[in-house]
Amino acid sequence: MCGIIGFCRWDGGEPALAPEPNCPLLGQMFRSATTMAPESHLEAHGAADAVARVMEGLHHLEYRGYDSAGIAVPHNGVLMVRKDVGHINEVDTQQNLSAMTGDIAIGHTRWATHGGVTQANAHPHTDASGRVAVVHNGILENYLVLRRELLAQGILFRSETDTEVIPHLIALELQNGHPCLEDAVRAVCAQFEGSYAFVAMHAGEQGKMVGVRLDNPLVVGYAEDGAYLASDVLAFSPHATRMAQVGDGEIAVITQEGVRFIDAEGCEVQRKTVPMDCKWADTALNGFAHYMQQEILAQPAALELCSMREHKELIDAAFAILGARQVVFTACGTSRHAALIGRYLFSKVAHKFSDVLMGSEFGYFAPALGTDTVVIAVSQSGETADVVEGVKLAKQAGARVVSVVNRPSCLLADMGDYVLRLKCGAEVGVAATKTFMCQLAVFHMLAHAMANRVDEGRVELSHAGELLYKMLHGLNYSLERLAFSLKDSGHFYYIGRGINFATAMEGALKMKEISYIHAEGMPAGELKHGTLALIEQGTPVVAVCPNDETYADTMNNVMEARARGGYIIGISDVPSDSFDYSIPIPVVSPLLYPLLSVAPLQLLAYHMSVLRGCNPDMPRNLAKSVTVR
Ligand code: AGP
Repeated sequence: MCGIIGFCRWDGGEPALAPEPNCPLLGQMFRSATTMAPESHLEAHGAADAVARVMEGLHHLEYRGYDSAGIAVPHNGVLMVRKDVGHINEVDTQQNLSAMTGDIAIGHTRWATHGGVTQANAHPHTDASGRVAVVHNGILENYLVLRRELLAQGILFRSETDTEVIPHLIALELQNGHPCLEDAVRAVCAQFEGSYAFVAMHAGEQGKMVGVRLDNPLVVGYAEDGAYLASDVLAFSPHATRMAQVGDGEIAVITQEGVRFIDAEGCEVQRKTVPMDCKWADTALNGFAHYMQQEILAQPAALELCSMREHKELIDAAFAILGARQVVFTACGTSRHAALIGRYLFSKVAHKFSDVLMGSEFGYFAPALGTDTVVIAVSQSGETADVVEGVKLAKQAGARVVSVVNRPSCLLADMGDYVLRLKCGAEVGVAATKTFMCQLAVFHMLAHAMANRVDEGRVELSHAGELLYKMLHGLNYSLERLAFSLKDSGHFYYIGRGINFATAMEGALKMKEISYIHAEGMPAGELKHGTLALIEQGTPVVAVCPNDETYADTMNNVMEARARGGYIIGISDVPSDSFDYSIPIPVVSPLLYPLLSVAPLQLLAYHMSVLRGCNPDMPRNLAKSVTVR
């Protein structure tokens, strides 16, 4: 879940490439750029400094991890590395990254797995001679064995990371006669167990960087003045015009001559390039204080867009689900909460039973999967390792996969037999908000497609979007005041029943992840089976109790909490004297309540985070994309 990036400048303009069969225009464009007037082309676009591009990219990748950062560039026959603990701006201040220059550079922003958050553990890592440097994302599961073997050969380690074995092994392979970096990388990858993506440079091969991936994302970006290798297109979206996925187990080699791909046997591979979706990657703050605030307020428009999604893609997935003997959702965190609501929608609207398994637990149920199973993989990033692993097992068992993802190109989209995209643009805040809303919208549409009532679903969603818009603007100020009055609370409890219990879980997750207050969400009926013991005078209890089939029972649980001194914050379309504080929501069809009741919970958590001096966009210890298991 770290962010890795490398940039190689093409000094003479875009290098000549053979036209690709699937992209003749690109090949033509590259040829004419070099054969006609390379110098003037370079002048027209300016010579980009690779370090500046890598730093810019690292800013865009910080959502993947932000506990330390670093950059490597070739310098006087070795590789100069500067790295430290902190966000990229802090590392720049401490280490003067901006003063580095070069035609080629690699960089990293870290989310610690192996080894604490220290300067020594920050990437890039090098071999003993400082001539091979590596930035890495993922986990090498057999690194201890490899490390022991390297120690036995007298190699000294400077960090506690799994990553450091990579540059040492590459250097050994080069010493042992592998003629080039890509061959050495191929040889070391054959020794690895686990999943990874890394980019390497070798001081002995000027102007070259090599990237490889296995079950972790790595994409190539083609700009007019150079090429990128990065964890995510966001890293290069302001500059690149086209992109290509590095295939699983493949190696991308970027030099002044262009980009080549080879497979694990060293054979050349043709890779398709596709145009960049720059609209998707537009991540300007547009005057908002935080991305999270912007993303919460973007939800009504996102719902409207979701209501307009194509009929055919819904119907295809709906038929597959209806025809399956068993239907299982797999997801983590917020996406799992959305799946829990999807499960109710399938049952209520289409009378189709399904189950929800946590991504990290899914594999333990693999023996029960078969060709009559449909697995619905829900993930905004499309690369959550726990979900990807489960989907792999499901596919091995012959199950079909419906992927519900937001990123235009991602592992889970590639693995899906059916792909339903959220289409709500990049979500930058680590706390998922608009993607949760759109996951609910997709399930609403899918459930209606399964019941042959798509048009009804569309109208309902569009109506919910209008109501949400009015509600969000009306509630913002009062929720900020509520947050102010509760900002010193030590614990929050969130309760709800039926389709609303996952909303309660999501409200609690939002609160704890960005404000660092302990918060628990649960089905309201469970409160009396243990948690009630924790309710004291003034303990905030948020009750999601709209006027649906759950209302009467949830209100009973509200009274039980209130009788123990709980401070009840009620989210409902029915006013009640039993609430100490009331958050009103509009009256809607019962299946739409989660869409409306989650938004105030997101806003409450947001204001709480800001008032407590936290950064809601980058909560401590977390990252947006969780690519380790
Ligand atoms: C949500 O606010 C969290 N950041 C987290 O729980 C997230 O939903 C989870 O890691 C799953 O991510 P995904 O949707 O990208 O798979």
